[in-house]
Amino acid sequence: MAEPRAPRTPKPPKQPSKPAPEAVRPGPLSPAADIEDAPLETSLRPRRLEQYFGQERIKESLRISIEAAKQRGESLDHLLFHGPPGLGKTTLAMIVAAEMGVSIRITSGPAIERAGDLASLLTSLQAGDVLFIDEIHRLSLPVEEVLYPAMEDFSVDIILGKGPKARDVRLKLNRFTLVGATTRFALVSQPLRDRFGSAYRMDFYDEAALTQIINRSADVLACRITPDGVAGIARRSRGTARVANRLLRRVRDYAEVRADGVITGEVAAAALGRMQIDDLGLDQMDRDLMTALAERFGGGPAGLETLAAAISEEGDTIMDVYEPYLLKIGFIQRTPRGRILTRLGYEHLGIDAHTATARSAQASFFANETVED
Ligand SMILES: Nc1ncnc2c1ncn2[C@@H]1O[C@H](COP(=O)(O)OP(=O)(O)OP(=O)(O)O)[C@@H](O)[C@H]1O
Ligand SMILES: [Mg+2]
Repeated sequence: MAEPRAPRTPKPPKQPSKPAPEAVRPGPLSPAADIEDAPLETSLRPRRLEQYFGQERIKESLRISIEAAKQRGESLDHLLFHGPPGLGKTTLAMIVAAEMGVSIRITSGPAIERAGDLASLLTSLQAGDVLFIDEIHRLSLPVEEVLYPAMEDFSVDIILGKGPKARDVRLKLNRFTLVGATTRFALVSQPLRDRFGSAYRMDFYDEAALTQIINRSADVLACRITPDGVAGIARRSRGTARVANRLLRRVRDYAEVRADGVITGEVAAAALGRMQIDDLGLDQMDRDLMTALAERFGGGPAGLETLAAAISEEGDTIMDVYEPYLLKIGFIQRTPRGRILTRLGYEHLGIDAHTATARSAQASFFANETVED
């Protein structure tokens, strides 16, 4: 006899087609934040500028602005930090507030749904406070429009009452500092950009800065590591502070279980090798992406979405997570017609450019034969 039918469960609400960055389960090298990172990030986050390594140009400029604002007893100008994930934008926003000796309110573009939400947030700020808006490129237009007069004149227009008796009231706000962060500077609207006193582009960290970051984190985590161990992790961290910290944690686990708890160069190499992370800090996904460019598109140019489809990945993920570092080390290039694999990229893969081109020509010949369009 047939089983009675289970009552139909209602369909789950439709998910947005592109996962939010925090929903992505990244690999160990992904600079995007993972849920597992949260407790670690809180404990490893430097609190003051002197523990924040690298980004010298930005720090120097911030030191001067902070000093000057303090001397005048004024709030700091609005600041925008942009650059790839995991380089320390959120950390720097918190440090700015700490150095100014003020409180920080933290929110993000997608979290502010209505103009009214932002208005009430703004009216609750104390004089000098920092309001940090992460992913500021994802603010909706009506919300952004509330932000303009708030940033410029420290005021908000609100509507009091309803119906015919409703009236516009302009409320004065306490002076505050807006700190915005984004991984997509190009998507921040021009009027919003114009209202920031300064915009800083975060750079990838060099090995010297990563060495300092790893040493400090190892101290905080009380793990034993040799200089070779630090160097082995620094070299494979893709110039990214978050990746450095994450690799340190993974290697520490390995050292505790498979070695005597000390992270040496050999232990780091063995642990990272097991994760299929190569000497330059590239993983299987990077190699798949470059191999697809070489073998399926004759080295490119290939459009972002075409390339994404070829390796079953989201275009946005490629753009935010994989591509920035590959561009930085010169393995791929972005051209108006799409991505291309450079000579350095071919060399790293150990693929001969001519053979790959011939193979891709053959592949597209057969593809044309079978696909009708
Ligand atoms: N300059 C630095 N010195 C030491 N540690 C750093 C530095 N920058 C970042 N970190 C560490 O790296 C981790 C990630 O930094 P953070 O969360 O600030 O990155 P983010 O740029 O805001 O990333 P996302 O774009 O994903 O929000 C933090 O846990 C922090 O401890
Ligand atoms: Mg952040």
